[in-house]
Amino acid sequence: MSVRFLLDGELVDLGEVDPTAALLDHLRYTMRRTGTKEGCAEGDCGACTVLVGSLEGEDIGWRAVNSCIQFLPMVNGKALMTVESLKADDGALCPLQDVMAANGSSQCGFCTPGFVMSLHGRTIGAKGCDLPVADVIAGNLCRCTGYGPILEAGENAEPHLHDDAALMEGLKALTVEAASGEWQGLRWFAPRSSDELAALLAEHPDARLVAGATDVGLWVTKGLRTLGTVIFLGDVADLARIEETEEALTLGAGVRYADAHAAMARLHPDLGELVRRIGGLQVRNAGTIGGNIANGSPIGDGPPALIALGAELTLRSASGRRTMPLEDYFLAYGKQDRRPGEFVESVRIPRPAIDAVIHIAKLSRRFDSDISAVCGAFALSVSEGTITAARVAFGGMAATPKRAEACEAALTGQPFAETTIAAAAEALKSDFDPLTDVRGSSAYRVETAANLLHRLWLREQGTAISVLNVEVGA
Ligand SMILES: Cc1cc2nc3c(=O)[nH]c(=O)nc-3n(C[C@H](O)[C@H](O)[C@H](O)COP(=O)(O)OP(=O)(O)OC[C@H]3O[C@@H](n4cnc5c(N)ncnc54)[C@H](O)[C@@H]3O)c2cc1C
Ligand code: FES
Ligand code: FES
Repeated sequence: MSVRFLLDGELVDLGEVDPTAALLDHLRYTMRRTGTKEGCAEGDCGACTVLVGSLEGEDIGWRAVNSCIQFLPMVNGKALMTVESLKADDGALCPLQDVMAANGSSQCGFCTPGFVMSLHGRTIGAKGCDLPVADVIAGNLCRCTGYGPILEAGENAEPHLHDDAALMEGLKALTVEAASGEWQGLRWFAPRSSDELAALLAEHPDARLVAGATDVGLWVTKGLRTLGTVIFLGDVADLARIEETEEALTLGAGVRYADAHAAMARLHPDLGELVRRIGGLQVRNAGTIGGNIANGSPIGDGPPALIALGAELTLRSASGRRTMPLEDYFLAYGKQDRRPGEFVESVRIPRPAIDAVIHIAKLSRRFDSDISAVCGAFALSVSEGTITAARVAFGGMAATPKRAEACEAALTGQPFAETTIAAAAEALKSDFDPLTDVRGSSAYRVETAANLLHRLWLREQGTAISVLNVEVGA
């Protein structure tokens, strides 16, 4: 196995390495790049943020990621910038660091390298950085400075172009070899196409698929699990396809949330708002649509919204493809309809009719970078004042993402009127018997799920509060 990347333009060839070692550990403990900090080792605090660059045509696309949950071979063939990379030859701070220092944007300084890297990413036009500063640093936590001076520094930092000309040549030379190999019984395969992936998975049906590792990374850093044989999806070019037509948006399973954001927002603004609140930017820069669906979490944010919108999932194996309504994929807690040798290939989301009534809302204890307590999604077809079809789906209410059948039945065929909404909200209470956990009590979940339907009505009447999704305590 050979993992090779460019760090500050210099070739780093790792030779034999544990393929599931964290990039952060290698930077800190082997390379002594200790400017990059470890806060949580689970993608939550942003102290470990680095910028990873990949060839995109004649450009380098930079993206901020959490190095604590990136496995080393994931940066094979890439360029890397750490906070040390920003130091000028004469030791001077970079302009962004100057602004941070002048603005009092750092106190203990532990979080500072992570903020600097996220904001530096913004100044050089990295992926997902066309968002307000607050969104770009939503995945970075600071415990002492307070966010005001950090936000101001981000606003005041001048954009500048990163000089990537020399790096381009180096990267072109590097991307020739895939990082596949074995280390002490751990195997890592990095196929380049879906055909290659299907063949590999037929040969190794028990292999663990890894896409962005924003879920799987934690199994290793927190769960101390050994992954055995891994097939990495990040280099499979055809899984990263985004196809927008008048009828539908089709996303390859390997599309990262940050890359899908604009197309999903065009499908419906609520969907864009939901994506904006999936993790922080570093998580959306790594986490994929396919990973979010395939892990089958009852509190994943993508599935309820996509189910309500009528999405179809395509699974593929060496022996062919099959397509199913997305809701059919989730069989029970931790159990999905994925056969040995199959992988999630794509999801197709039909474009809603122009007059469809759509409402998607995520309720979490913290507005940014938090997992849902309840995620509700409603898609109603209304014709001449009558609801002709209703699809309602929830996350956080059952062992899987699930449709609310009683609620749908109470809506369908009824006038689109407040009395119908009230009856359907009542029916919704019989659809689920949710758990009580740290994110919300069972009673809270039942009550707020019904309230989301009332909110849909108020919003249609133009009387709902203007914020689509609000932060609530349980
Ligand atoms: C700090 C943090 C915040 C988060 N916030 C949110 C949030 O707000 N909302 C939310 O929904 N999620 C959140 N997540 C969870 C996670 O980011 C998402 O579920 C993400 O979409 C997973 O994608 P991935 O590519 O990283 O998956 P991975 O971790 O690579 O894989 C996840 C699972 O899917 C399987 N898999 C991956 N791709 C495929 C495929 N193509 N076919 C079959 N199986 C596959 C893997 O084997 C594994 O079981 C958060 C995670 C972190 C660390
Ligand atoms: S150490 Fe906290 S996000 Fe990586
Ligand atoms: S300055 Fe101390 S955590 Fe941010």
